[in-house]
Order: sequence, then structure tokens, then C-alpha cells
Amino acid sequence: MRKFFILLSLVGFTFASEGESIFKAKGCNACHKPDQDTPMAPSLKTIQGKYGGDVDAMIAFLKGQKEPIVWPDKAAIMKAQLARLKDLSDDQLRALAEYILGK
Ligand code: HEC
Repeated sequence: MRKFFILLSLVGFTFASEGESIFKAKGCNACHKPDQDTPMAPSLKTIQGKYGGDVDAMIAFLKGQKEPIVWPDKAAIMKAQLARLKDLSDDQLRALAEYILGK
């Protein structure tokens, strides 16, 4: 029985995508909610509405190589957050970008 629960928790871990894990580990979810804009930040849904499915554009933004397009008047708040992503590999950045865009 115990082995069964260990197996179950391993499967659960696999189901939380890598991108989602990074999003939470980096504290992005403190400001960004899935569906609801807050005074702090646009929701992932709002961001998806602007980016469509453009993963490469999202990666460029996360690398600090592209101007913000969602709430440009609050860009300074977000720009400060990008420093947290400096240690990510290209694969991790792609996983994060795909999670943000709901892929
Ligand atoms: C302190 C609150 C806060 C935190 C924490 C935060 N963000 Fe943001 N984010 C914002 C605000 C405000 C905006 C709107 C400004 C903008 O569009 O750049 C934004 C915008 C964005 C955008 C849209 C960019 C665009 O083109 O306009 C993305 C993508 C994003 N955040 C990703 C992240 C990720 C990934 C993290 C975690 C490393 C994160 N955010 C952490 C406040 C936050």
C-alpha cells in the first residue's frame, strides 16, 4: 500500500509541468493570477490575449530582448522581475514561456 502512494505522488509530480513549477518557484504567481487581472498585474489570460501563441516572442521578452506589449505603463515593475530568470537555461525559459501562453 505504501509503495502505491509513493508511486501516486511521483505521477502527481510529473503532471505539474516544468513551466508551472518554475513560475511558482520564481514567485511569479504572487502577482499573476490565471484568469483575473489584479491591481498588481495582468492575468495569464490577458497576457495570452496579447501574445496569441507566439512562444518565441515570449522568450524574447523573458530574456529582456523585447519591449512589453501588455501594460506598457507598468513595465518598470515587471522589468525588475526579469532578473530572477537569469539563471534559467534556454530549455527552462521555453518551458516557462509555454506555460505562460497556456500551451
Ligand atoms: C511585483 C509583481 C510582479 C511579479 C512578481 C511578476 N510580474 Fe510579470 N508583470 C507585472 C506587471 C505589473 C506587468 C505589466 C507590465 C508589462 O506589461 O510589462 C507584468 C507583465 C508580465 C508579462 C507581459 C509582458 C509584456 O509583453 O507586456 C509577462 C510575460 C510576465 N509579466 C511574466 C512574469 C514572470 C515570468 C514572472 C516571474 C519571474 C513575473 N512576471 C513576476 C508584475 C509582476
